[in-house]
Amino acid sequence: MSDARIAKLQGRRVWDSRGRPTVEVEVHLADGAIGRAIAPAGASTGQGEALDLRDGGSRFGGLDVQGAVGSVNDEIAPALTGHDAVDQETVDRLLVDLDGTSDRSRLGGNAIVATSMAVLHAAAASAGVPLWRHLAGDRPVRIPLPEIQIFGGGAHADRRVDVQDFMVMCPAAGSFSDALDWTAEIYRAAGSLMRAAGKAQGVADEGGFWPAFDSNEEALETLTRAIETAGFTPSTEVGISLDVAASQFGSGGRYTLALDDRTLDTEALIDMLGDWIEQYPILSVEDPVGEDDHDGMLEFTRRHGRRCQVIGDDYLVTNAKRVEAAACNGSVNAVLVKPNQAGTITEAFEALRAGKEAGFGTIVSARSGETEDITIAHLSVGWDAGQLKVGSFTRSERMAKWNEVLRIEESLGASAEFSGWSSFTFAGSDALTAEP
Ligand code: PGA
Ligand code: ZN
Repeated sequence: MSDARIAKLQGRRVWDSRGRPTVEVEVHLADGAIGRAIAPAGASTGQGEALDLRDGGSRFGGLDVQGAVGSVNDEIAPALTGHDAVDQETVDRLLVDLDGTSDRSRLGGNAIVATSMAVLHAAAASAGVPLWRHLAGDRPVRIPLPEIQIFGGGAHADRRVDVQDFMVMCPAAGSFSDALDWTAEIYRAAGSLMRAAGKAQGVADEGGFWPAFDSNEEALETLTRAIETAGFTPSTEVGISLDVAASQFGSGGRYTLALDDRTLDTEALIDMLGDWIEQYPILSVEDPVGEDDHDGMLEFTRRHGRRCQVIGDDYLVTNAKRVEAAACNGSVNAVLVKPNQAGTITEAFEALRAGKEAGFGTIVSARSGETEDITIAHLSVGWDAGQLKVGSFTRSERMAKWNEVLRIEESLGASAEFSGWSSFTFAGSDALTAEP
């Protein structure tokens, strides 16, 4: 009989993919099971997110996390010792109560999410099953459709272009493994096009090519050409997904596209994005207007939500209450789920469940600051999210997640079901699936 009570919990400082300090937590259970997890970090964060605790001062640009590591070792460890790691909800409730703030600023969102994820890993290890299986139990799961960045932009590329992510999705692939094969070819084709144009200048924060373009639209044109050059049919085989991350270049209904030298009001931004949806094989758009532009979100989804997935990221900040409100008013039709935005595993799951109940698409997502931690790969399968967004197809903090899903798919053998087209829930998605 395994004893899943928490015997020891330790925090330490490790480093993320931007060379910034972050928090790792290691949990030891009475039965010897061990769980470990590392907090990721965003750059284009939403206002309602759980807040990381950073030390401030001059060291590492103020980004050190000694305070958050102290939260784990001095407060969280004594409070959780002796508790059952299998009871994730109670553990997460204790963490939230112990912090006592609404934004997790006292103990630190980074300390709390790393603890919550490490406890989850320990519970799965104690049960002797993979993390995704521990989450799914006997429920059926699908292997997620990957959303993979080809060009990085916005806050992840010194604002070289305004739009943040130019990604591809391969819903017509027969499996996750095939979807990665297709993406690898598209990534290579995009690289060749950039080199031929004299625009090969390395990669952005999430591993996508550095966006050396003369306009935001040129990135879309190049991406469409890369899909074709790689031998795929845009729309019916491979679609484009955009994370506009509009809060990064506008608020109060005024948006400044620095690269295009244009300032747009909400209506004009929605028109411009509508033109792009018309002209390019766009299947998904995230945060098309600013997080404070509720009427703009409503209008965008009213006008374009039948033709593409509309994801709320900064707009919903993985908050179940906000997802429920969006379900009532129809301001989006999909929700991005980032555990560290919510604060704990339990809260992230509640946001995902609220999305599913609303009939939304659900996308488990990484952050721009990542590590070798592969927790989200398991969440995307174990929660049957249908979609997974990790960043690009280079750099090991990204590849670690894609490779982990490959292993999970392989372990399921013939019973593995790839979500593909079924991951889309927006009104017009059935018609797309029906195309040959
Ligand atoms: P972030 O960006 O991790 O820098 O916040 C990711 C996203 O906007 O989806
Ligand atoms: Zn986003």
